[in-house]
Amino acid sequence: MRMRKKKHREDRIENCKEYQIENLEAFREDPCSVFPNPGPIHIEIGCGKGKFITQMGQKYPNINFVAIEKCPDVILMAMEKVKEAGLTNVKFIIGDAKILSDSMKDHSFERLYLNFSDPWKKSGQKKRRLTYRDFLAIYERILIPGGELHFKTDNRKLFEFSLNEFADCDLKMRNITFDLHNSRFEENVMTEYETLFAEQGMPIYRCEVIFRQNEEE
Ligand SMILES: C[S@@+](CC[C@H](N)C(=O)[O-])C[C@H]1O[C@@H](n2cnc3c(N)ncnc32)[C@H](O)[C@@H]1O
Repeated sequence: MRMRKKKHREDRIENCKEYQIENLEAFREDPCSVFPNPGPIHIEIGCGKGKFITQMGQKYPNINFVAIEKCPDVILMAMEKVKEAGLTNVKFIIGDAKILSDSMKDHSFERLYLNFSDPWKKSGQKKRRLTYRDFLAIYERILIPGGELHFKTDNRKLFEFSLNEFADCDLKMRNITFDLHNSRFEENVMTEYETLFAEQGMPIYRCEVIFRQNEEE
C-alpha cells in the first residue's frame, strides 16, 4: 500500500496520541498495562486503515486489541477511526511486526490476526511472508498455549504456501475455506481489502491455526 505523505501527518498522529503505544519497552514487559481494563489481548499485524480492528473493538468490548502497522500514513487513518468510535480497548503500534520478536514477554496474547498480508510473490522473498515458519515460531512463543492465528487472504499462492508452513510446523488447522463469503462461517468481520475484493467477486481464503497447548502435542 504506497501512499503520499498525508498533510499534517505529525499533528494528526499527535491528536491520536492516547491510542498509540510509544513506550515499547513497558509494553513488552507488561502488555496489559497499556489498557484501562483487563482482558485477553488480540493482535492484528498490518491493520491498514483500521476497518477490521475498529469493528472488532466495537463488537468485543471485553477484549483488548493491539494493531501493528508499519506505514504511518495508513495507521493514522486507523487511529482516527478508533478515536472517532471512542474505543478504549484498541491501541496501535507504528512499526514492523518484527518488534514482536524482540524481548516480548512470552504468552502475552490470546489471538493474532493476519488479514491480506503482503504476499511477497518471489520465492526468494518467502522469509518475509508473515506466515513463514520463523514468524510462526515467534507467534507460538508470544501467544498463550492453545492461542490462535486467524488468517485471511485473496492470494491463493500465499494461502497454499501458508497451509504448507502450518503443516510443516505440526500446527492444527480448522475452519479452512477457499471461499469464505460462500461458506457457513458467520463471524466474519470485513477488512478494507476484503471489501474491495468481494466487490470484484474474488474468492477469499481463510483458516484458523491453533498453537500447541503443551510440549507433547
Ligand atoms: C495489503 S494491506 C492489507 C490491509 C488490511 N489488513 C486490510 O485487509 O484491508 C497489508 C498491510 O500490512 C502492512 N504490513 C505489511 N507487512 C508488515 C509488517 N511486517 N509489519 C507491519 N505492517 C505490515 C502494510 O503496510 C499494509 O498496510
